[in-house]
Amino acid sequence: MHGKVPDDLLRVSDLDPGTLAGLLELAGAMKQEPLGWERSLHGATIGCLFEKPSTRTRVSLATAAHRLGMSAIVLNRDEMQLGHGETIADTTRVLSSYLDAITVRTFAHSTVEQMAEAATVPVINALSNSHHPCQSLADLLALREHFGTLAGMRAAFIGDGRSNTCNSFLAACAASGMHLTIAAPRGYETDADILGEAQELMAQTGGSVSLTTEPIEAVRAAQAVYAEVWVPMDKRDEHAVRATLLADYRVDGALLAHAPREAVAMHCLPAHRGQEITSEVLDGPRSLVWRQAANRLPTAQAVLHTLITTARRRAT
Ligand code: CP
Repeated sequence: MHGKVPDDLLRVSDLDPGTLAGLLELAGAMKQEPLGWERSLHGATIGCLFEKPSTRTRVSLATAAHRLGMSAIVLNRDEMQLGHGETIADTTRVLSSYLDAITVRTFAHSTVEQMAEAATVPVINALSNSHHPCQSLADLLALREHFGTLAGMRAAFIGDGRSNTCNSFLAACAASGMHLTIAAPRGYETDADILGEAQELMAQTGGSVSLTTEPIEAVRAAQAVYAEVWVPMDKRDEHAVRATLLADYRVDGALLAHAPREAVAMHCLPAHRGQEITSEVLDGPRSLVWRQAANRLPTAQAVLHTLITTARRRAT
């Protein structure tokens, strides 16, 4: 791996470009030979603390753990003392003495940071309100498999530019030297700090990011068009206003007609068919969505293997 493996994976920007590329390489190898690392973490255990619903992340992490010879324990807040007053820090400190890694899906990103601070084993962000790094790794692997390379690729992100998926995809594009255009309505523009961080890295990797409010303008040169949900799990109370403001930010056949012929459609799932993406696109020949979802497994396997083996080496 050419780069420094972080202790934890809280955001894509924890991974320098070399480490990110190394993880994708390893994930590709693990996809070819799913049980090739079967004994590598025999006897190890991960805890999967999920405070929000999940299908892909929960099952891919647990299956990845099993493929590495590990056990996975799904932890529900309400069944733990965490849901009855014990602090995050105290809980994490104790879990660190039983587990080899902790994965967490939660609300505030500061919760993930608090856990990483208190943990003595790797903490992996399985989605916070601000970041979704595990998704972005699968996205990059799907793009690399489809196009053969990432550097210089042009992508468009359509919809909420402040979402966790957008923040992480932007950082992933930055580390990979890609060109990203984000089309978001006013009030949903990407946070200036996250944008600045990506631009700084893009100055080194050769990538770029631009912002627009116009989906058609964003997709004109895009080889990949990423659709984003209008109403995420933590914003259900904003349903009416979001559904109105984001109504024009739909990836459908009409929008894709403005993109190059080679362009593929992306979505992290779960999809709201007929809202941010149509069934025609999701199930159509230009959809990369099912490959993105399938790639959650080998990328989770690569992350668990790399972080846990590195932590063990550092501890000796
Ligand atoms: N994309 C994603 O994180 O899916 P789940 O919410 O099902 O885990």
